[in-house]
Formats: sequence, structure tokens, C-alpha cells
Amino acid sequence: MTSKEIRKAFIGFWTEEPRNFQVVPNMSLVPNVDSTLLFVNSGMFPLAPYLAGQPHPLGKRLCNIQRCLRTNYDEMIEIGDNRHTLMFEMMGNWSLGDFTKEQQIEWIMELHIERYKLDPKRLYISVFGGDEDAPGDEVAIKSWKNAFKKYGVDAEFSEDITDIPKNLEEGKNWKNRIFPYPKTKNWWERAHAVGELGGSSSEMFYDRGVIEIEQDKYHINDDSGRFIEIGNNVFMEYKLDKNMKWQILDQKNIDFGGGFERVTMIVQGKNDIFETDIYGTIIGKIEEISGKKYKTNGKDNEFTESFRVIADHIRAAVFILADGIKPSNKDQGYILRRFIRRMVRFAKKIGIERDFGKEVAEEVVKALNYAYPHLKENEITVLEEIEKEERVFKHTLSKGLKEFGTIITSPGEISKNGKPFNKTMVEPELIELGQLLFYFYETYGFPFELGIEEFQNVRNFQLGDLHFRIVEDAFKKEEEKHREASRKGAEQKFKGGLADHSEEVVRLHTAHHLLLASLQKIVNPCIKQRGSNITGERLRMDFNFDRKLTDDEIKRVEALVNEKIEEGLIVRRLTMHKGIAEKAGAQMEFGIKYPDLVTVYTTVDTEINERINRFFNEEGDAKTGNLLAKDVTALLEKTFSKEFCGGPHVKNTKELGKSGKFKILKEENIGSGNRRIKATLAK
Ligand code: ALA
Repeated sequence: MTSKEIRKAFIGFWTEEPRNFQVVPNMSLVPNVDSTLLFVNSGMFPLAPYLAGQPHPLGKRLCNIQRCLRTNYDEMIEIGDNRHTLMFEMMGNWSLGDFTKEQQIEWIMELHIERYKLDPKRLYISVFGGDEDAPGDEVAIKSWKNAFKKYGVDAEFSEDITDIPKNLEEGKNWKNRIFPYPKTKNWWERAHAVGELGGSSSEMFYDRGVIEIEQDKYHINDDSGRFIEIGNNVFMEYKLDKNMKWQILDQKNIDFGGGFERVTMIVQGKNDIFETDIYGTIIGKIEEISGKKYKTNGKDNEFTESFRVIADHIRAAVFILADGIKPSNKDQGYILRRFIRRMVRFAKKIGIERDFGKEVAEEVVKALNYAYPHLKENEITVLEEIEKEERVFKHTLSKGLKEFGTIITSPGEISKNGKPFNKTMVEPELIELGQLLFYFYETYGFPFELGIEEFQNVRNFQLGDLHFRIVEDAFKKEEEKHREASRKGAEQKFKGGLADHSEEVVRLHTAHHLLLASLQKIVNPCIKQRGSNITGERLRMDFNFDRKLTDDEIKRVEALVNEKIEEGLIVRRLTMHKGIAEKAGAQMEFGIKYPDLVTVYTTVDTEINERINRFFNEEGDAKTGNLLAKDVTALLEKTFSKEFCGGPHVKNTKELGKSGKFKILKEENIGSGNRRIKATLAK
């Protein structure tokens, strides 16, 4: 099967009878609403409100293939092996409290065995073993046994996770296939924050029959590379309460995610993701430009790792750029910058000196345009930005090289810390050199090896083995310190923002709608929202407008929002066709692709609420099968605000008053014709 066929098989399987799933549109990598997460990192991301209990306009059975990006440091350093990539696509299917775990396991097995034609005798399963928060997953164990039996395999559960076959041959008659793991491995949540959803998970592993990293003992979820995780069934049945305790949800959800690239690798009988047809032409292009081979006689060589890093990073860069981000020193732009710079550094290692990113990026667009037409639409900007950033980086590098050269050759031979380097270096100086190299690595992206080489050239001095190791060690220590600091920073940054459905966030979310409507009424009716972000402390809204708001405008906007809070408008959720909502003037979010059926949140007084009741039930579903655009337009004409939105919101704007009065904290220019307001509710 080609990767294109796998894509089709996945969506086909879920949307066909008797399953009848609906496809959720693939969303931008850059989350726009209600989140401080930098990039969408799993297929469930856009579904968080619905998993928490809001009804989804497309129903309770959903699926899609979502572009995802994972960018934390630990994941970054895994890149370079045969199966990890930062940019990937996740094949997802969901039950919003609809069908059972037993049913999911039966179907997921059918998908993998009958559609992808995987060998059930190479399949192994992990389940949650249980702890004080949740019991061990007996139902999953039983369901997997039944599912295996359907394909002629007698599968058993084993407490001893190391009780696995030695090789593929032994695996053919092996009984133990289901193993328990603790929370560290088999519990899923995106971040530990109030309101976060989570649950026990059951992962599927495929025996590749080859070991890459020797270990003392093996089990299916180790790092040996033999068993590859191809899918994860999360039984999303819990929510973190204010005291950070997991509470059981009324709605029992299922959240499945399978790695598209990994499944493709297994189905295509490869041992390397980068040898699938997804990456084939990209790797081919890098071979052509570098004149080096990706592998030698089918085996990894000294260049393989660099090829993989380049292929992964260029794909990530193309997708981030196509979603509207430009290289910068902040947030998503900074990550993008790091991808491009890291790629250039690895290109050097395989002898690429000239600008090359653009040509490889073209291959990414060609390979994936059939599934992501927005790549082609944005191709010109994407290629230009890559080329520009590559040049800026090279310029910085050569500046760094100069500064480095000055430091190590200056007359007094002064180091960064003001001490001279002697020719016969002793330990403290070697340590200092390591630290200096790290400084250059951090500041100019100067690779360690390049620094050492340069140092030896300039000083005409060869470091012995022992000396080299001291320098390297000092460099690594600095790197570890830095990593710790950025990890702490990231935890701080993402704490609380994620899927935070605390009362404060929900109130600010409703205030956000009132603010947009007030800006349109008081300042300019053409104002549109361009971005949004809400934490427990404040809301942030970006919108298009070409000048500073006057003090008077700010006062009047605040006053109008507060007036609407005091009036106690009813917040209604209405489900309707996208076209109808658009005609009725509901506000869309910039850059979001909506499904055919959407939910609109609107704030109304009691009189309009009565009229809405004639057309919609309390849940927000239309009472009549043929809701007419003109009726909805008339209905929504007199509402205060109306926006395409997944919620959640308060029921009545009066509830906002509990947090205090609405206040604009800041109004500023953020460039490109956009402005930003930060506002809060405070006593
Ligand atoms: N959301 C689950 C995961 O990312 C399926 O593994």
C-alpha cells in the first residue's frame, strides 16, 4: 500500500457502514483558541471541549488525520533514529461517550489486521496496571483477548512484562501478548493542569524483529527499538479537579491516535520511516544536493542521522510556515527558527555548504500537497522564508566565527571570562574552553565540533583524547544546565493554560465574545479577531485595526462590556450549517477551517431567547429539519454577539460579575496591521 492508500483506508474504515464516523477537518498547527500550547501536538487537541462534555456538531463518532508537531527538548534529541520525527500526522478516531471500550478494541484490531494487513502474531499490547487513581484495566485485557482470538491467536495477559519471545520465530506461538504498565507509560494527558482530561491508555506494539539498542532485559515498551508503538487507545474518562485529583467524567470517551508515518513504515515492510514513500523523494533530493548516500548497502552510515534530521526539520518548517508563522525570537517563530538553523548545521555535516533548504522544501510540498493543498497555496512565501532564514543564519555563524577567532587569538589571549588561554592547557582552562564553546553554540548556533576544529586550527594545537573529553564534558554540563532552565521555563509557561476549563477561564472566554462585539459596535464594524489566548488571569485578543485606540474608545468599550455583564444576557449555543451561520453574520475565527455543521455561541436577552426557543431546543439543536437561513438571520440580527465557537461558556453573562468588572489592561500594536488587547475581570 502507498501512504496515500493508507490514508484512504483509515478514513474509509471509520466512515463506512456500520461505523458511520464523521471526519473532523484537519486544523492549523498553531492553536488559536483558549490555549498556551505552542503547537497542536495530537489529534484530540481540537476536540478537548467535546471530550469534556460539550456536544459536537458532527455527532459522537469522529475521525481525522491531523498534522501534529512535538517540540520539547527530550523529543528533539531523539530525532535522528529510524522512527522518531517531530512533525508527524496522527490518525485519530473518537467516541464522545458513544460506544464501549470493547467495541473500540474490536474495531481497531479489524482496521490493523484486515485493512493494513498486519500480522496479528507480531502484535503486542500494553494496558494500564492500576493505582490509587484508577483501577487496572480488566475490560481492556478481556477485549484484547477476544480480538486476538478472532484472528486465530490465543493471547494471554502476563504480569511479568519481560516474558516476551526472543525473536519473530518464537513469537509465532507466543501466548503472552498483553502486559501491564504504570501511569508513567499508560496514562494519557497533555499537561498536568486543572480541567485537563486524561485516562488510562492501551498501546499497540509491532515486533520489528530487530534490536537496535542492546539491553539487559527487554519488554515491549523499552528503548531497544525492537517493538514499535503504532497506536494508542486512550480511555479518556477522567478530569483533573481544582485539587489536582482525577475525577471520573460522566462521559466515557475514547481517543485513539496512530502514527501515520509509523504505520506506513510497517505496512511497507521497512525498518526506517525515512525509507517510506512519505520521505523517499525528500531523502533523494538531499542525496542529490550533498552527493552523499543516505545508507551504505542498506545499512546506516556516518551521514544517515544528518539526513533524518534535515528531512524531519524541513517538513516541520514547511508546515509551520504554511500555517502563517515567520521565523522570530519568540514562541512559534523561535521554534521555527531553530528548526531551520538546526537543519543547516546538520547539512554542513554532510558537506552541504550552499543554500539548499528551498529545494528540499519544494519536495515536501510536492509529496504532501495532495493531502494538504494549503502547502501549494502558500508555497512562494514558504520557500522565500526558508531561503531568507538560511542566509541570516549563515551570516550569524560567520560573525560568531570571527568573534570566536578574536577571543582565542587576541594578544593577551583573553577568554570570555577574562582569563588567558595558555598553550599548555590545564584542566580549569579546558573546562573554560568547553563553557566558551557552549556560549558560542547558544549564541551563534556554532556546532561543538566546528568550534573545536576552529580552536585547534587557530591555535595550531591538537587536543589529546583526555583533554578533548574534559572540554566535551564541560560543554555537556553547560548544555544540561541550560536544558533544565528551559524545561522549567516551559513548564511555567504552559502551566494552567492547557484545556483549562476553570471558572476563571470560562468567564474570560465569554468576556472575550463581549469584547469583540463591543469593539465592533464602538470602534469599527470591520474589526475581526485575528488570534486569541486565555489564561486564568487575563484574556488576550488580537484584531485587525490600523491605529491606536483612543482613551475615550477604551473607556466606552469597557463600559459597554460591563453593561452587558450587568444586563445578564443569556448565552445560547446553537448548532447549524456553516453557510447559514455565515449568512447570519456569525464571527469566524481567522484561519480556521470549519466543518459543515458548526456551533455558534450568542448572547441574547430574554425576548430573543424566547424566539430562539421556537427554532432550537435547549441543547442547541434545531427543532426543525429544514432550518432556513433567513429565519436564523432574523433571529440573530438583534443579538449582542454571535461567534463560531466550541465553548465552553457561562450560562448567563451575570456570572462574569463574580470575578469583578471588565477592564482593559493594555492595548498595543503587534505589527502587520494588527493590534492586541489584554483584559481581565477584576474586583
Ligand atoms: N491522544 C492520544 C495520543 O496522543 C491518542 O497518544
